[in-house]
Amino acid sequence: MSYPYQIKSFEQYQKDYKRSIEDPAGFWSDIAEHFQWKKKWDNPLNWNFTEPKVEWFKGATLNITENCLDRHLEKMGDIPAIIWEPNDPEEHHRIITYKKLHEKVCQFANVLKNNGVKKGDRVCIYMGMIPELAIAVLACARIGAIHSVVFGGFSAQSIADRLYDAQAEYIITCDGAYRGAKDIPLKSVIDDALIGNRTVKRVIVCTRTRTPVSMIKGRDVWWEDEIKKIETLGLNDCAAEDMEAEDPLFILYTSGSTGKPKGVVHSCAGYMLYTNYTFVNVFQYQPGDIHFCTADIGWITGHSYIVYGPLSAGATTLMFEGVPTWPDAGRFWDIIDKYRVNILYTAPTAIRSLMGFGLGPVHGHDLSSLKILGTVGEPINEEAWHWYHEHIGKGKCPIVDTWWQTETGGILISNLAGVTPAKASWATLPLPGVEPVLVDEKGDEITTMEDGVYKGNLCIKQPWPSILRTTYGDHERCRTNYFATYPNLYFTGDGALKDEQGFYRITGRVDDVLNVSGHRIGTAEVENAINMHSGVVESAVVGYPHEIKGQGIYAFVIYTGSHQQNTHGTADLIRKDLLQTVTRIIGPIAKPDKIQFVSGLPKTRSGKIMRRILRKIAEGEVENLGDTTTLLDPAIVDEIKNGRL
Ligand code: WT7
Repeated sequence: MSYPYQIKSFEQYQKDYKRSIEDPAGFWSDIAEHFQWKKKWDNPLNWNFTEPKVEWFKGATLNITENCLDRHLEKMGDIPAIIWEPNDPEEHHRIITYKKLHEKVCQFANVLKNNGVKKGDRVCIYMGMIPELAIAVLACARIGAIHSVVFGGFSAQSIADRLYDAQAEYIITCDGAYRGAKDIPLKSVIDDALIGNRTVKRVIVCTRTRTPVSMIKGRDVWWEDEIKKIETLGLNDCAAEDMEAEDPLFILYTSGSTGKPKGVVHSCAGYMLYTNYTFVNVFQYQPGDIHFCTADIGWITGHSYIVYGPLSAGATTLMFEGVPTWPDAGRFWDIIDKYRVNILYTAPTAIRSLMGFGLGPVHGHDLSSLKILGTVGEPINEEAWHWYHEHIGKGKCPIVDTWWQTETGGILISNLAGVTPAKASWATLPLPGVEPVLVDEKGDEITTMEDGVYKGNLCIKQPWPSILRTTYGDHERCRTNYFATYPNLYFTGDGALKDEQGFYRITGRVDDVLNVSGHRIGTAEVENAINMHSGVVESAVVGYPHEIKGQGIYAFVIYTGSHQQNTHGTADLIRKDLLQTVTRIIGPIAKPDKIQFVSGLPKTRSGKIMRRILRKIAEGEVENLGDTTTLLDPAIVDEIKNGRL
């Protein structure tokens, strides 16, 4: 495959960028010509941010899987689409060519049809990182079913909430998943999630760990048995469903500043175009390169840069089942050496955690195949950036610092590897099609520099092809969350700096959303979970800087009676009860790192918790707490300060 739209020089970037902003419809239409359509569009772009309504390529029909699979078969059928590395290095890896992947996706698409799945139905996917996860995702897309992948670290309650919100009737899962030394009993979690559920008709269970599972007659079926039926019927091909450009492709739940996670909806054509375009340009992918994105497909990074971006570009994507530190901290370097990986895309939290093991695990691995390094998920500190550059890239690989979000579908701000300049811990310049703006609290554009930079809340002025279209089942929530804070702007929730060259540095969330090891968690969500515990009166959760995770979770909790000497045991035991509660309600990823018991919270006279004060205390900045005179009970601040963990 060749990519005529791959940017090759800084001058070309500037030219393409300029055109993309002045004439987005023309710019993206030209790129769209390089994809396979069943029918071309009538109108490339129609939008307003007030409803909001965004329509790209209206009137066109396509199927994303034809672009990810069928169109590569003739010339590239025998090249690897997916290289799969298992959790246990002793187990055999798998290489799946485009031809094979096409066949497996078609077969499983027929399994879905055979089990009653139709276009528009919602299918929840809860699996570990095995090739069948990618196959399940693509099989849904093949028949126009809307996939909703839920990360394996979420609890039964979280799955139940997501099933209900999406009114999902089908689930695809595994018996279990391997993650490092752990076995996660996925099917058993699904069984818990299904207690009392009346909408789910079918659960398809793929074998991985062969951990004992209950298979309920009439509801649960084995993946392998269903495939056999299809093979017996000779149904090895499956026509790709005609999808309207704006038909939903998938839902992915993500946390916001209020209550429950929202289902971000992406649509077929725009998402396909943008993930492909950004993959090819940011990573400067060359045919034959091996691309290793270490994310889980349960997050947007996996959707866009393990599955859809690379496959639509005919790339070879490496999928890793395990974790970076098991059996030892050389696991990534092992994989890079073994497969001669060219592009490594990972998270700052992984880099920082591997840095902690020193250079020992890096030595003895040949990393000379690496050409390009990437990071995503949170701001990367300079120390980690330099370690990555020097010890992994050996000083010769450009690092792309890619800023984006679940809602943006693809990378919005990043340097293009080796083509546009890099700057340690700066995401740098916007991609073509992306017009950022920094605004103040009132929504006015920041026009004066402070200490050599512009500083403000990061918004985007016009739609790029993979902007979210709605939040599932609640369009008003989409409007208020992203388009109502500042009129006619998409608000990202992030704060940013901009320097005199126009480079952006993302400083982190300005709302009540935490970023823990690159995972997004709402403080309100964690508070709700803590408050579910019978002994808890009230709680307040804030983030604090954490050396490895980026942000840690700090919970201040008012507990009934005396938590010090309680009939239910010591403070430590109660802390463990609370962690258990959070694990049950959300999942282990949301467990607070610190729980401080307090007798009250700093509140204003109107009853509002002053998080600013709690944040400062959690950060260890106890001296300069600002004005506390408006507090109902200023004395509480001293108690909290003194009890700080
Ligand atoms: C939030 C989105 C989209 C990839 C995975 C996370 C933070 C993401 C960067 C970066 C600084 C970053 C932002 C953003 N973030 N990438 N390169 N530099 N911050 O997706 O869970 O939707 O989280 O992650 O705060 O808003 P997500």
